[in-house]
Amino acid sequence: MIATAIADSNRRSIRTHGPQAQIRTSNVANVAIIGAQWGDEGKGKIVDLFTHDADVIVRFQGGNNAGHTLVVDGEKTVLHLVPSGALHANKLCVIGNGVVVDPGVLIEEIDALKRRGYLSEDSLLRISEEAHLIMPYHKAIDQARERLRGKGKIGTTGRGIGPAYEDKVARIGIRFVDLMEEDTFREKLKYAIEEKNIYLKAILKEKTLSFQEIYDAYGSYREKLRTYITNTGLLLDRQIKAGKKVLFEGAQGTLLDVDHGTYPFVTSSNTVTGGVCTGTGIGPQHLHHIIGVSKAYTTRVGSGPFPTELSGPEGEKLKAEGAEFGATTGRPRRCGWLDAVGVRYAVRVNGITGIALTKLDVLTGFKKVRVATAYRCDGEIYHDFPSSQRAMERAQPVLEEMDGWDTPLSEVRRFSDLPANAQKYVRHLEEILETKIILVSVGPGREQTVLLENPFYS
Ligand code: GDP
Ligand code: IMO
Ligand code: MG
Repeated sequence: MIATAIADSNRRSIRTHGPQAQIRTSNVANVAIIGAQWGDEGKGKIVDLFTHDADVIVRFQGGNNAGHTLVVDGEKTVLHLVPSGALHANKLCVIGNGVVVDPGVLIEEIDALKRRGYLSEDSLLRISEEAHLIMPYHKAIDQARERLRGKGKIGTTGRGIGPAYEDKVARIGIRFVDLMEEDTFREKLKYAIEEKNIYLKAILKEKTLSFQEIYDAYGSYREKLRTYITNTGLLLDRQIKAGKKVLFEGAQGTLLDVDHGTYPFVTSSNTVTGGVCTGTGIGPQHLHHIIGVSKAYTTRVGSGPFPTELSGPEGEKLKAEGAEFGATTGRPRRCGWLDAVGVRYAVRVNGITGIALTKLDVLTGFKKVRVATAYRCDGEIYHDFPSSQRAMERAQPVLEEMDGWDTPLSEVRRFSDLPANAQKYVRHLEEILETKIILVSVGPGREQTVLLENPFYS
């Protein structure tokens, strides 16, 4: 499929799918795919592509705030909770304990996939019994808080993600294992609903929710999802011991990480590589390669600082050419030049071993392409990502400029077939980011890929 996309004589140690894939230099590789920006980097496409080489694909954090787009044979699929390996036959998809799951949304997604012939057997999907449930009050609280915040809102997806993680940390969350035990579920829901209704009514001035309606709805989810619920930590351990290759699929991106991102304009989970271990129950020795996914420019949905944002015609061009509208909420994405300060930071905090550079095709037609290599703020130069909210808000990008190119890239499959200036751009990014670029994506389709190095075979 992408075997022809790859061989390129001027790159070192290239391993491909196809016959060359047999020449393996390591026994097993488990790979994490992590967003290196503010989300929507094209993780879904990259996970779908590398699923070819994996046996198990695992989500480890986030929830249905994620929207991962896969385009296979011209057909578009957007996944929110089911791992992006689902469009390949016979791959085991796992939702780990670190994910917060809205069971109604998950059931709809499973049903839609099954109607199209995917997830042909129930055994191809496994959900952690320790994953926490998103409850109707989480969504109500998320949306009401955003309304009350007005202009200062975070711009959340409104899916209840933050309040669900809050309850997990406050030790009043409800997990699948609790839902499976009817008595436990009744008790926990009773406690939660009393507290949430007081909060909704007195503080947020919202309508209260009915215990019985939630109890009944979640009772039906219990029966529909029962077959998928298991101890996924144990399952993954067995798979790894059996020599299976595991692909860990990140959601959101490093700059949205609750610890490392542009706090408070972040999501509520650890989106970085560290989240793989806590969100699945495997040890760090099982991770061999970390792929950071970055667009060739930058986008952001929701509020928060964005030093390289372009508000004029160049930003509009990126939005139009890149079709930059959210896969979950449909909101237009803010667009700007590549922020190498942010991506270099992502390389550091994730231990990224190779970058998948997506949407290079979108830069076609710009006379000049620019990259921020530092920030300027109150007379100071920042080469590293600042923690201060104030500094981030005032940061001005220090931009490097390079000549652009005019040729469309969507048919390119070999690095040497990219226009010279596009090649220069990629090479120069490798220098700025001090990391190799292992893949360049030139379109949404699975096959629109220039693969330089396959982490499963390196
Ligand atoms: P994710 O959340 O990281 O999986 O990314 P999204 O799916 O939310 O957004 C990425 C968008 O870019 C989707 O519409 C993809 O189909 C599309 N896409 C991915 N790679 C490329 C590429 O190389 N070129 C173009 N033009 N579109 C791409
Ligand atoms: P994928 O996996 C881009 C953003 C929201 C908001 C902030 C907090 O498709 O890359 P939340 O609902 O999580 O509490 O919102 O995080 N956000 C994303 N932005 N891609 C995503 O996921 C996102 N998930 C959340 O827009 O700014
Ligand atoms: Mg997305």
